[in-house]
Amino acid sequence: MARKIVLTSGKGGVGKTTICANLGVALARLNKRVVLVDVDIGLNNLDVVTGVENKIVYDIVDVIEGKCRIKQALIQDINFPNLYIMPSAHSYNKAQVTAENVKKVIEGLNDYFDFVLIDCPAGIDEPFKRAVGGADEALVVVTPHLSSLRDADKVLMILSSYDIKEYSLVVNRVRGDMVLYKEMIDCKKISELLDARLSGVIPEDDNITTFLSVGRTVNKSCESYEAFMMLAKNILGETNKVYDYTEKYRGLFGFFKRALRRKI
Ligand SMILES: Nc1ncnc2c1ncn2[C@@H]1O[C@H](COP(=O)(O)OP(=O)(O)O)[C@@H](O)[C@H]1O
Ligand SMILES: [Mg+2]
Repeated sequence: MARKIVLTSGKGGVGKTTICANLGVALARLNKRVVLVDVDIGLNNLDVVTGVENKIVYDIVDVIEGKCRIKQALIQDINFPNLYIMPSAHSYNKAQVTAENVKKVIEGLNDYFDFVLIDCPAGIDEPFKRAVGGADEALVVVTPHLSSLRDADKVLMILSSYDIKEYSLVVNRVRGDMVLYKEMIDCKKISELLDARLSGVIPEDDNITTFLSVGRTVNKSCESYEAFMMLAKNILGETNKVYDYTEKYRGLFGFFKRALRRKI
């Protein structure tokens, strides 16, 4: 039986798709069978960030409309054989793509995977409901900015009316130097304010934008690599540690790094 986890946030552009792809890779590195399901129908981009956009033959809407079987819509990742992507469609027939039908597709993946990661669209309307309805756990992605915190708070409230048995936070785009200068709210405070457990912290990492725009996920050379591995291990219940985003900015060398970063 797969764990079905939706990545949601309310606000767009906070990193749901980025975290979905990179968490999927991290879990696959830990030998788990993972499928990433893009439920952002119409505005899909999970296929682009995972580099499978040219391999799509069938998508989730084709499965719902009965044009293909579930397995035909799964694309295997080039680097990780136990990672699959179920892409979304550019256009669709609204009448068929209901929350109930999406849930059926997600349930159909149960026997083949350990994890189904659901990439949720922004907003809290119909598309949100379609994505959340198929999940039994949620990771709420938030950035250390007021507008994101407000939206995450709303989403957490809405999630309580769903069948979600477990939820926690992933704080994305954290800058240790700014936190030390007290220019950015720290993650512990975010967790307290939102009254939700912290499952992971992902630092601001320029490699993410560079790598993902060419369809590659982060690797060992990236600052965020360790942070994604820690998030995956926390989700597996193996550890309960989050990335130490201020470490490299502490001490004498850290002070210079901090000062340098402010100059650029
Ligand atoms: N930790 C990060 N560091 C730097 N850039 C990031 C980070 N997380 C996400 N991004 C960038 O932010 C943009 C929006 O991310 P995306 O995952 O598409 O958000 P969402 O799915 O929530 O709309 C992308 O260009 C992505 O590369
Ligand atoms: Mg997205």
